[in-house]
Amino acid sequence: PAAVIVAIDGPAGTGKSSTSKAVAAKLGLGYLDTGAQYRAITWWMLTNGIDVKDATAVADAAVKPVIVSGTDPSAPTITVDGLDAAGPIRTQEVTSAVSAVSAVPEVRTLITDLQRSIAAEAPNGIVVEGRDIGITVLPDADLKVFLTASPEARAARRSGELKGKEATDLAATREALIKRDAADSGRKTSPLAKADDAVEVDTTELTLEQVIECVVTLIEGAG
Ligand code: C5P
Repeated sequence: PAAVIVAIDGPAGTGKSSTSKAVAAKLGLGYLDTGAQYRAITWWMLTNGIDVKDATAVADAAVKPVIVSGTDPSAPTITVDGLDAAGPIRTQEVTSAVSAVSAVPEVRTLITDLQRSIAAEAPNGIVVEGRDIGITVLPDADLKVFLTASPEARAARRSGELKGKEATDLAATREALIKRDAADSGRKTSPLAKADDAVEVDTTELTLEQVIECVVTLIEGAG
């Protein structure tokens, strides 16, 4: 069978990563976390003293870091200039800066090209998760899913993930998520949006297992 390309988009905390990884593992597909790539370039900017609020400086520097993503869903990896970036890209500092960096058109062009070549080279197909995959990166995907959930559910999930790593409270997490989504939805270049032909799944009342089941069924129906 031909390689199947699946695009999974949606705001933060809707379960995109957990769902995408599990679906890919179940069906023997590759997995690509595009948010991790934007986080990786942001981490590089911060560690190299680039002012992330200066779009020109970000655009000029964007060509420098070499980002490599491993697409095994049971052990996804990301390196920047050969350094393991998996840990540092999850810090609060990177999370707060990533929307500004990812709004810069030069950054998006670079990362989008990288994503397309990774998807094209995936032998059995791939699940690609992000914000603009269905509309911009892979408009010809075999299946497009748009995950949503209430702000309360999203904040609760995200603060569950952060627990133990960094002190966080629910209200602050909720505010930070809403702010990041507004920035991602409001930017000029390739904003977070649902493609007309995407299937919307509201995960507020669903367990992770139910969401996985739902997406697997959609993929089987799309083939
Ligand atoms: O998915 P995650 O929360 O790790 O994404 C981090 C950030 O990367 C998002 O808030 C957004 O600014 C950016 N992003 C993007 N386009 C994508 C994926 C992520 O702009 N396809």
